[in-house]
Amino acid sequence: MIKPDGVRRGLTPEILARIQKKGYRVVGLKQMVISRETAEAHYGEHKERPFFGELVSFITSGPVVALALEGENAIAGWRGMMGATNPASAVPGTIRADLATTVGENVTHGSDSPESAERELSLFFKADELIH
Ligand code: RTP
Ligand code: MG
Repeated sequence: MIKPDGVRRGLTPEILARIQKKGYRVVGLKQMVISRETAEAHYGEHKERPFFGELVSFITSGPVVALALEGENAIAGWRGMMGATNPASAVPGTIRADLATTVGENVTHGSDSPESAERELSLFFKADELIH
């Protein structure tokens, strides 16, 4: 997902170009504003964390671009392209190192397991919106 900061700052084309150059297939792509309910479900694993409220407010603060990517090791590969959660710790060349400065607004999200990918994709796409 390209988070609201990334969309607001006009970074969607740059991020899509990185995905294309890497070689993942984009099988779903949708710009949308996430409802509070969907955001709370999406970030359910962080419900007890002190920053949960901020996280939900931020992710619902403007349009995001939801992406469904396919390719070998796409989950780990995309997380590698994003870099560390905190841009200050991210390795140069990664999206968060190159395009972000703060942990709260770190431009992109990525599912962290096949189970979370399945769960999250079903929050944002209907089955017939994914073109394999
Ligand atoms: P994401 O879920 O967005 O792909 O990022 P991630 O796996 O690298 O990080 P995660 O631990 O899942 O945290 C989700 C998002 O919460 C924000 N965060 N803020 N204030 C803080 O200490 C803090 N820690 C995490 C980040 O925006 C992170 O991407
Ligand atoms: Mg995460």
